[in-house]
Amino acid sequence: MTDRVVLAYSGGLDTSVGIGWVKEQTGAEVIALAVDVGQGGEDMEVIRKRALACGAVESEVADAREEFADEYCLPALKADALYMDRYPLVSALSRPVIVKHLVAAAHKYNANVVAHGCTGKGNDQVRFEVGIRNLAPNLTCLAPVRDLALTRDKAIDFAEREGLPIDVTSKSPYSIDQNVWGRAVETGFLEDIWNGPTEHLYSYTQDPAVPREADEVVITFDRGRPVKIDGQDVTMLQAIEIMNARAGAHGIGRIDVVEDRLVGIKSREIYESPGPMALITAHMELMNVTVERELLRYSRGVSQRWGELVYDGLWFSPLRNALDGLLEDVNASVSGEVRMTLQGGRAVVTGRRSDASLYDYGLATYDSGDTFDQSLAHGFIELWGLPSRMAYARDNRIHG
Ligand code: ARG
Repeated sequence: MTDRVVLAYSGGLDTSVGIGWVKEQTGAEVIALAVDVGQGGEDMEVIRKRALACGAVESEVADAREEFADEYCLPALKADALYMDRYPLVSALSRPVIVKHLVAAAHKYNANVVAHGCTGKGNDQVRFEVGIRNLAPNLTCLAPVRDLALTRDKAIDFAEREGLPIDVTSKSPYSIDQNVWGRAVETGFLEDIWNGPTEHLYSYTQDPAVPREADEVVITFDRGRPVKIDGQDVTMLQAIEIMNARAGAHGIGRIDVVEDRLVGIKSREIYESPGPMALITAHMELMNVTVERELLRYSRGVSQRWGELVYDGLWFSPLRNALDGLLEDVNASVSGEVRMTLQGGRAVVTGRRSDASLYDYGLATYDSGDTFDQSLAHGFIELWGLPSRMAYARDNRIHG
């Protein structure tokens, strides 16, 4: 039988050519699926029609924005997840939701293959294929750029030869991936890691060096979820969008990093993630106020592991599920308000209040009304230091 392929379609050069290329090289019929994860830019209906014009037998758009915000971005916020302490997992988070829609489309259209536009050098091929094979072991995966030698030059030739409705001259020298959680830019002159990023790379954020009046914002959380901004109810998607605009206006969330890819390469990425970085700053601070010390310390390690799993393409894994259960528990008390000043590339917390606060004024104060019994400190210190004091004494005895 003829293969039927569902292709993850972005509307760009590689996946537009991919439609005809897959057909030419394998004889398969191609169904295009564009998933809206809040990437903005071109109208999704224009993208849907372009796929048909490029030879797709069917073309669909899946609006996954709310689902992406609620089921992928929110857990990342509850974890304060930052890969290598820096990268808020922009692309990594979007792959599993795209996978879900690809698999659903494969079932709907009776396809036996799922294709994507990734190269053979990155993380995203792993995330797509591990996800697809976990959810639907009967599907096979195809990456035309990697498996059918669809190089950039061939793609441009093909588009011109076939008269595809894409502007090959507008192809940027950068590889860009974006969604509502942020934007990733790589390749081009950035591959020399001594080269500083230039202003034109950015689109979610303004130059933080330009002086502007500060913006003050109050974010209300309910069990780790942002539910109000300046007193107005928001969905998770709205919270991200509003904070993208407000934090982006002050140049917050620009990240220039050399990171470790799963396939063993160190690569340089420029990210901008204004809303998420501001939300994570606020959420972390409310964690500090409301989560008991041992649980808080432990959860930092959990967050790191969570970020590594998601980065490494193991969203659909028992450990990620289990860690999310623990993070739900950690977030059970994370309700209250955080006030921040947005200015000069930074979101700075200036106030916090919560009914679930563990901050006790009486215990903390140096003024009158102190309820902390300082006389207990002496004995505590004696016992706390006992093991290390004994070890020091032993070493002095033996080694002098
Ligand atoms: N390095 C990041 C990651 O693996 C971003 C990759 C995004 N892709 C791109 N074409 N820039 O999650």
